Amino acid sequence: MDAAQKQALYLEAQKELISITDGERNQTALMATVCCILAQKFDYYFWTGFYLVDPEKKNELVVGPYQGTLGCLRIPFGRGVCGTAAATRETQIVQDVHEFPGHIACDSRSNSEIVVPVIDGNGDLIAVFDVDSVAYGSFDLIDRDGLETIMRHVFARA
Ligand code: SME
Repeated sequence: MDAAQKQALYLEAQKELISITDGERNQTALMATVCCILAQKFDYYFWTGFYLVDPEKKNELVVGPYQGTLGCLRIPFGRGVCGTAAATRETQIVQDVHEFPGHIACDSRSNSEIVVPVIDGNGDLIAVFDVDSVAYGSFDLIDRDGLETIMRHVFARA
């Protein structure tokens, strides 16, 4: 897929999600819908899902809505790609997960990954959005910008 096609798909997903989720505030409904639309649209998405900040243990993530094979249930902040995105609040793009220190291999078929922090309208981190691919180097700045924009629209309403 070339850059222009990728960009067009993110724009399409963004428009669909803004329209489908209009007026909806339930977080589970929003997260499940984001997973569905994106996993269906991008054929290189192998695992697509959210890890939520556990309200009872502020420095731990717990698995939320996802599409794909079995994901691990809990990830401490700072651990693996998801935990790093949560601790730094910065999107992580990993071209080869086997080279990432502390990477958590939920499914050995995953070879590259992107994790985007999800911030609500109050500026609080509520989750991270994780996508894994079986190919190496699947994710780039177009994925980052596309996903950050979608998360902002759906969860911060901005
Ligand atoms: N690979 C992730 C763990 C989550 S799964 O891929 C579903 C990580 O290191 O954060």
